[in-house]
Amino acid sequence: MTAKPDTPARITRLTDYTPPAYAIDSVHLRFDLDPAKTRVHSRMAVRRVAGAAESAALVLDGEDITLLTLKVNGEFVAFRQETDKLVLDKLPEAFTLEIETLNVPQANTQLAGLYMSGGAFFTQCEAEGFRRITYWPDRPDVMSRFHVTLRADKAAYPVLLSNGNLVSHTDLDGGRHEAVWDDPFPKPCYLFALVAGNLVCREQTVRAASGKTHLLQVYVRAGDLDKTEHAMESLIKSIAWDEQRFGLSLDLDRFMIVAVSDFNMGAMENKGLNIFNTKYVLANPATATDADYDGIESVVGHEYFHNWTGNRITCRDWFQLSLKEGLTVFRDQEFSQDLAAAAGGESARAVKRIEDVRVLRTAQFSEDAGPMAHPVRPEQYQAIDNFYTATVYEKGAEVVRMMQTLVGRAGFRKGMDLYFQRFDGQAVTCDDFAQAMADANPQSPLAQHLVAFKRWYSQAGTPHLHASGSLDPASRTYTLTLRQTLPDTPGQSDKQPQVIPVAMGLLGPDGAALPLWLDGQDKGSDTVLVLTETEQTFTFGNIDAAAVTPSLLRRFSAPVILDYAYPDADLLHLLAHDADPFNRWEAAQRLTLARVLAAVRGDELQLDPAYLDALRAVLRDPKLDPAFKELLLTPPGESYIAEQLDEVDPPRIHRARQALRTALAHELADDWQALWDSLTPQGGYSPDFASAGRRALRNLAQAHLCELGQTSWLGRVYQRVKDADNMTDRFAALAALVQVGAELAKPALERFAAQFAGEALVMDKWFALQASSPDHDGRQLDRVRALMQHPAFSLQNPNRARSVLFAYCQANPGAFHRADGAGYAFWAEQVQALDAINPQVAARLARALDRWRKLAPVYRDAAQQALRSVADSAMLSSDTREIIERALA
Ligand code: ARG
Ligand code: ZN
Repeated sequence: MTAKPDTPARITRLTDYTPPAYAIDSVHLRFDLDPAKTRVHSRMAVRRVAGAAESAALVLDGEDITLLTLKVNGEFVAFRQETDKLVLDKLPEAFTLEIETLNVPQANTQLAGLYMSGGAFFTQCEAEGFRRITYWPDRPDVMSRFHVTLRADKAAYPVLLSNGNLVSHTDLDGGRHEAVWDDPFPKPCYLFALVAGNLVCREQTVRAASGKTHLLQVYVRAGDLDKTEHAMESLIKSIAWDEQRFGLSLDLDRFMIVAVSDFNMGAMENKGLNIFNTKYVLANPATATDADYDGIESVVGHEYFHNWTGNRITCRDWFQLSLKEGLTVFRDQEFSQDLAAAAGGESARAVKRIEDVRVLRTAQFSEDAGPMAHPVRPEQYQAIDNFYTATVYEKGAEVVRMMQTLVGRAGFRKGMDLYFQRFDGQAVTCDDFAQAMADANPQSPLAQHLVAFKRWYSQAGTPHLHASGSLDPASRTYTLTLRQTLPDTPGQSDKQPQVIPVAMGLLGPDGAALPLWLDGQDKGSDTVLVLTETEQTFTFGNIDAAAVTPSLLRRFSAPVILDYAYPDADLLHLLAHDADPFNRWEAAQRLTLARVLAAVRGDELQLDPAYLDALRAVLRDPKLDPAFKELLLTPPGESYIAEQLDEVDPPRIHRARQALRTALAHELADDWQALWDSLTPQGGYSPDFASAGRRALRNLAQAHLCELGQTSWLGRVYQRVKDADNMTDRFAALAALVQVGAELAKPALERFAAQFAGEALVMDKWFALQASSPDHDGRQLDRVRALMQHPAFSLQNPNRARSVLFAYCQANPGAFHRADGAGYAFWAEQVQALDAINPQVAARLARALDRWRKLAPVYRDAAQQALRSVADSAMLSSDTREIIERALA
């Protein structure tokens, strides 16, 4: 993974794909686990695949491991050893290959392959970690039956886990023991996992709708058992949902989740043995917030849903990553939406949709407009780990969602059924998925425009959807013209039109929905227009209204930027009356954005009575969900605001947004107070949708009331940091004090740290809150450096490193971007320090300067200099180098 700067970059290209020449039908793996020297013995049944040349070589990947022995059919044979590869020639058609390697888990700080965390062994093999354990054709289209023997010291590692079913567990001499596991399903090596350590588990037996019983287990460290209930409940709900919505049931007798505190990503769907970042498992009311509870539910769902979309059908190659990730994100979003709707109705579904769109527009749209822009199915990479991106995940999910919109919910289910019927047990491509969806729905616009639709996979960049409408009273028609443009992105220009489903409706002057007559057909009051050409015109008949307000892109039916010159009056009209809650929220966002942007451009912030009255009406509307009100009253984030500008001055954006918050605090003071008073908690803490929504809105009110700066109020909030009976409220109070720079923030932070010193995930919040705090006095960078001197800080632990470095460099643009470039120098220093420890995490941090070209000149030169200084460093991983090179290209 570490390359000298003069080694030419190794680029992997989609067009170079060739099928493997050899299959490994089964493998027996034996691990003699030891932190300093783990021996891995592998015995593989290898077979040349039909059609491969007799002379074909077998290529095995290997990285940072020591080869001890290699035998073919029991004999030592000659082989070539290249960088990170072993090549074997002159092989029989079928043979047994035996390889023994040596690993040093305790020295593995990259957390890819076999590593130690808290004295226990864990593995992470996706995407290319298995080669760090043993030599193997490390590619997802080689699928094998795994039979695994684990041996270790029994006292130190009483629990020994791997994929599939436990075959035997026996004591050995010398205080060691052995567990044998067998996974009945062939799988690619990236889904292999083992865990060995001193863990405890919550377990439960469930009977699935199919009648089968399954053993579910959640493994954690000894003190954490009281934080596993929500993960277990989420798993049970996931199992039920996949059966009910997609007819997919759990195919294993036993399903295990293991929490680990050192983990590069969120979680991993290893067959039957999911390994999770503790952040997405552990929760109790005292330590986790509502957002944490939500995150656990969706990540537990996500990894569980991978069992079918990812594991039963996997990817042919890593360019197809979105085949499993986009689809599985879509599935976990639908899961959360269905659960929310069951609890809080259709408006709760809209709340979930808004939350997902916010993530998409913040993370993915900016990625798609910058140097890392790539198609949902990328065409080349240096380090595949860099392509676990918002584009592959979130935009990929939108592509699947558009298919559902085009074929309908029932049609989508038919497409999924056909997909499993055709490809179960195989490693396939994004084309295969789209084809199954189209074939199952031959009359749908998806099938009719499949070629154009699939450009969503191959073309990068966020399409702009330009809309204009005109009412013609004489002919009683309303004409809507839709036009799409797709910006150039690195390596791609002159793009072709894509298929854009535009859900829409029309509102009359009284706010009522107008009936939609299109081509003489009655389309009700909500329909989906399908744009397939660069430009198309849709004419609605029988329009008797004196004025028409179009509600476009309802539910955010496509991941595009809607350019429609909405007058304020139309937005106020939509905000007040639209039947689609998403577009009510969107109207408010547009109104707020326009006012913040004017302030960024240098005008004084103006909040007109019509705007304020509209917000007041929302806050006072008893029919609206508190969760929805909270989203509606939260202004767009700083990075989303930055995306609207050609030249970005981040501190200026921060000040403008802050000015808006302060103004809203004053203008709506009575409403905030009334909300605070009326939303008092009912009973003890419960993370359900309605209670969480009430807390969210009450805490938003609290934050605004803090802006007023009244000492008595701040004292009351301080009291809440001390007394709150749950982490959501306690942390919201702490954050409110820190946000306004109150004097009481300091004692509150100290108290909080003393109380939660033993809770790593809570301390992550404590670090992140301070690192992302506004720069009240010009000393924020000093404070960040001081946080790194805290005895509990560590660069080795990804969660902790992220809690300070990402919180400052990525989540705090107003403080990070400084005219003196000190923030960038700090970033350059930390990227390099982290790169020596963990390239995957370093490469993520490297992306904090992705959009440097958009910065105002005072920042731009310093940012470029910092990027160059990293590019010039002698040792850099291919992960980080790829990001830096793209940024500078
Ligand atoms: N497949 C995992 C998930 O989406 C993510 C694993 C990513 N690992 C990595 N090293 N990039 O749930
Ligand atoms: Zn995933």
